[in-house]
Amino acid sequence: MSVPKFFKISLLLLLVGSCSSLQAGKFMEHFNKHQQIITSPDGANKVGFSQYGGKLYYSFAHKENVIIGQSQLGLEVKGDSTLADGFSTGKVNTRSSDSTWEQPWGEQRTIRDAYKEMRIELKQKKGNKHTLYLTFRAYDDGIAFRYEYPTQKGLESFEIINEITQFNMFGGYKAWHLPALKDNRYEYLYTKMPLEKMPLHEGNAHTPLTMTRNSSNLHISIHEAALTDFSSMTLKRLKAGLLKADLVPWSDGSKVKVSSTRVTPWRVVMTGSSAAALTESTIILNLNEPNRIEDTSWLKPGKYIGIWWGMHLERFTWGSGEKHGATTARTKEYLDFAAENGFDGVLVEGWNKGWDGEWYKNGESFDFTKTYADFGMKALSAHAKRKGTAIIGHHETAAAIKNYEDQMEDAFAYYEANGIKTVKTGYVNYGQNIIRYAEDGTVLGKEWHHGQYMVNHYRKVVETAARHHVMIVAHEPIKDTGIRRTYPNMMSREGARGQEYNAWSDDGGNPPDHTTIIPFTRCLSAPFDFTPGIFDIQFDGPKPKNRINTTLAKQLALYVTIYSPQQMAADLPENYQGVPAFEFIKKVSVDWEKSVALAGAIGDYYAVARKDRNSSDWFIGAITDEKARNIKVSLDFLEEGSYNATLYRDAPGTNWLKNPTQVKIENQVMTKGEILNLNLPAGGGTAIHLSPIK
Ligand code: NOJ
Repeated sequence: MSVPKFFKISLLLLLVGSCSSLQAGKFMEHFNKHQQIITSPDGANKVGFSQYGGKLYYSFAHKENVIIGQSQLGLEVKGDSTLADGFSTGKVNTRSSDSTWEQPWGEQRTIRDAYKEMRIELKQKKGNKHTLYLTFRAYDDGIAFRYEYPTQKGLESFEIINEITQFNMFGGYKAWHLPALKDNRYEYLYTKMPLEKMPLHEGNAHTPLTMTRNSSNLHISIHEAALTDFSSMTLKRLKAGLLKADLVPWSDGSKVKVSSTRVTPWRVVMTGSSAAALTESTIILNLNEPNRIEDTSWLKPGKYIGIWWGMHLERFTWGSGEKHGATTARTKEYLDFAAENGFDGVLVEGWNKGWDGEWYKNGESFDFTKTYADFGMKALSAHAKRKGTAIIGHHETAAAIKNYEDQMEDAFAYYEANGIKTVKTGYVNYGQNIIRYAEDGTVLGKEWHHGQYMVNHYRKVVETAARHHVMIVAHEPIKDTGIRRTYPNMMSREGARGQEYNAWSDDGGNPPDHTTIIPFTRCLSAPFDFTPGIFDIQFDGPKPKNRINTTLAKQLALYVTIYSPQQMAADLPENYQGVPAFEFIKKVSVDWEKSVALAGAIGDYYAVARKDRNSSDWFIGAITDEKARNIKVSLDFLEEGSYNATLYRDAPGTNWLKNPTQVKIENQVMTKGEILNLNLPAGGGTAIHLSPIK
């Protein structure tokens, strides 16, 4: 194809990464010369596509600023096929869509799904003459695109060995980096760094990779949506601000084995005009397929306690013996406590055989239907039912996938038969160390948590659980890419450093700013089973220096700032007895009509208000990092009329380091439009419950 001269010049300009304000207008001029452009309904986000010299490029502009300059697209295929070159543009179909859908549960009931789309047919003239489609969408809260490769001669089934997709970031950015392709999955602390300092050779970034644009309020996050039958995308920095999709490989080096699924996940750039606005983005859910579970009446968000923290503090063991945690007697006690305090369930870990010895190295020995001798499943599930609560089941697999898959059907049937409706899964294992077997038992290779093999495994679990009417809370999961829209029994997941790190991590636990970073990073992709609510802040545990690095009031606020439809009250029941602040955990909702992000700065503070789905009550959570600060928030979001507000604040003189547990509970009348002054001490937080005055 002959390339118009202006386009050649634009391409050159857009490939030059830096962007002074003088140049900004020029860059937009060149952006506007793309062969195809779509604009979001509000006009702010534009994505442009051009095909030039047989290669494919896109760019992204936000409010007349180029954010992603000309970036190459394409997929490299094993063998003599290519999906990267030799294309000419065929039909281009554009359309707009504007609809609203309802979540069976969630951080908001209804979600508007409004976008412009262009679907571009690309045809190769030579070689195997393949056809590839690229679909772009522009939403008010970001842009997205994906590849589609229909079944065709030479591409019946094939292997992708490289995804070329680039993100050529224009301007300077600060990024919150979480290393991928390292031992411990997602479980690291985020590091703030200029984008151009992100590691070049090791430690690709996991997504969502959140960035702020220098000298601007624009916050963006690169992520993916609808990760199905594909490998996870990590981001590799090639040079300066040039990022590239780097797919998590199979043990044999290939990236994706394509057979029945003929589309890639969506590559997404989320946008927000502030840190708080970014957290309200719904683009990831909108890019997932609608709900496939017809009857959703059995899907119930809930709060739970568990035989859990005791193991992390090494007071109980998962395995059998004198210190065995999951005994009939203790489970009964916990069930009674749960029932008395309105909890929906008790998580019981270590009830099944297989935990003895170094269980994390011995996943093959887990039996998912056989109880230890001192645990009576039948009697306990009947007791739970009588009391109006439930057992929450547990499948720790230690990532011995074959052992789990061989038993999976029976394991879920066993839970279903015992009235267990929620199951926590676990995949403790490190690095590229998940053994993949052939049917005949020969070892085929060792896989990563985030490769296609595991993406498919996690999906199999969710689908099997759905057939048995079981809700899943996954630990050591695949990252969240919005699959809960399609399978709303995928309730919550870990996928970051949770509360447990405070018990035993070598670095002294999660620092106070951890929970002020995750709302803008990990939690953009949704529910997080962080397990808040430890009241015994300076517990006696396995590491003398470890403790909870927050105040008690901040532990309360986390129930609102960290969204999860299954929230745990993680502490030992005795630590809640007689503590007035426990009332907040009992009252706080886990299912929301709407959520309004009130204020935030990544790594510094965050405040959010959420309206209960089943009443007219509102809850507010506000947290700060290790610095004391005064946050002013407007109560504009309230409905007309007055509210009785119960505030759970850090008492005067309280801070996370020296005096973390004093909570002052006070009542006030509040009305719409009022400005609320939140005085948060270092490492502190405030939790508020508002009920309308009738
Ligand atoms: C790690 C999980 O995050 C934790 O919650 C669980 O208790 C242990 N694995 C044992 O399964």
